[in-house]
Amino acid sequence: MAHLVLSGVVVRGDQRGRALGFPTANVEVDDALLPGDGIYAGWLEDEAGVRRVAAVSVGGRPTYYGDHGARLVEAHVLDFTGDLYGQHVRIGVGEAVRGQERFSSNEELIDQMRRDVEAVRVAAASG
Ligand SMILES: Cc1cc2nc3c(=O)[nH]c(=O)nc-3n(C[C@H](O)[C@H](O)[C@H](O)COP(=O)(O)O)c2cc1C
Repeated sequence: MAHLVLSGVVVRGDQRGRALGFPTANVEVDDALLPGDGIYAGWLEDEAGVRRVAAVSVGGRPTYYGDHGARLVEAHVLDFTGDLYGQHVRIGVGEAVRGQERFSSNEELIDQMRRDVEAVRVAAASG
């Protein structure tokens, strides 16, 4: 379930994801290679070659940075609590779930991310 595979090193983000309950691996990828802004079903493969299902977000995080956020790739790996910092990982980008939105509160974003994760589970289960 990947239309596109990106690769890069996991760097430290703003650490906000953890506080929101949806930690993400922020992956450094050349901007020219990025797909359009949005949320995608996909996977993250770690250095050991272990591939896990992920909700992949591409974009400038408009909720926090308006129209001026740097575009980035973040992967929330489902049901995973490990540490990926510094690893060179591959990210598979599959089916688009929705576009990036600007939410007016953390709670609204959290509710939406919960739905995104369910949509990604369904996409992953159907291959
Ligand atoms: C599944 C998922 C969906 C997301 N959707 C949006 C969105 O619609 N709008 C937005 O501003 N940020 C969105 N984000 C990005 C979050 O704002 C970001 O992960 C959070 O601020 C943590 O950033 P950090 O890793 O740099 O701390 C999404 C992230 C994930 C994992």
